[in-house]
Amino acid sequence: MYDFRFDASDKPTLYRELLQALDALTAGEPDAVANMANAAALIGEALPELNWAGFYRLANGELVLGPFVGRPACIRIPLGKGVCGTAAAEQRLIRVDDVHAWPGHIACDAASRSELVAPILCGDRLIGVLDLDSPRPGRFDAADEEGCAVIAALLGERLA
Ligand code: SME
Repeated sequence: MYDFRFDASDKPTLYRELLQALDALTAGEPDAVANMANAAALIGEALPELNWAGFYRLANGELVLGPFVGRPACIRIPLGKGVCGTAAAEQRLIRVDDVHAWPGHIACDAASRSELVAPILCGDRLIGVLDLDSPRPGRFDAADEEGCAVIAALLGERLA
């Protein structure tokens, strides 16, 4: 049984705790689906105010839904489309404070109001994206960007 505790009151410490747990859970496990599934579950437990946390994988030139926690989501996203496809195509982290004000946002859950998408790279190779949605506008800030970038870097090794 895994029982990780996330009780930090500040974001940098919370992301450190999350990174440690993720490192421990995925170390030595070569199966990418298993690692994405546990990562999504862990992120869903650790980070408050999320309604969706999960992965889209690059497969045959488009993003395809991977393991997640949350409501059923759109399955395929072309590169360059939506927040996920744009983050993947431009290989950069994108934070959206208000999804209603972001042209091209793809609504999978009507409750989502803000979003953070981090590309996952192994070296130069794009593997997919980590996507976090929140029902609260402006839920994500610079500390979330930093924390998620570090998590995406670890996952780049563990999902390769
Ligand atoms: N909102 C995303 C689509 C994926 S869902 O949020 C799970 C986008 O615009 O790419």
